[in-house]
Amino acid sequence: VSRTLVLVKPDGVRRGLSGEILRRIEAKGYTLAAVQLVTPSRELLEEHYAEHQGKPFFEPLVEFMLSGPVLAVVAEGHGVIPGFRSLAGATDPTAAAPGTVRGDLGRDWGLKVTQNLVHGSDSEESAAREIALWFPAA
Ligand code: GTP
Ligand code: MG
Repeated sequence: VSRTLVLVKPDGVRRGLSGEILRRIEAKGYTLAAVQLVTPSRELLEEHYAEHQGKPFFEPLVEFMLSGPVLAVVAEGHGVIPGFRSLAGATDPTAAAPGTVRGDLGRDWGLKVTQNLVHGSDSEESAAREIALWFPAA
């Protein structure tokens, strides 16, 4: 059984979409193994997004992720890593297909940073690394 790290980003928490996003994960048939509201430190976020350091959107992305609490979720089930990314939809919410979290619930707000509601791990290696970061005791 696989596990993935899902984050409901600060825009999702602020807009009251946490429940809707958890509902979609459960409706798909995945299990919620851990859920915690986290106020992340800059250090945690720089580590989480280490692969993006040096890119033009890195600093705005970290600032956005520091703008409010994040719901950290470990979701579990066969195929959950690609399965959740499929539920989430394309990175750009304008392009994301209807039926996906980003396609149904997200939009372009005219900001520097792509506010796209959720994060999902992109591989087994990323999932293990990210779960250890966000749930150090788990
Ligand atoms: P995550 O599940 O959040 O990791 O999304 P992703 O895997 O679809 O995107 P990626 O890991 O490539 O980028 C991480 C986050 O950085 C995205 O979710 C966006 O919030 C932001 N981002 C990525 N690419 C761009 C970009 O080209 N421009 C801007 N402004 N933001 C970006
Ligand atoms: Mg990513």
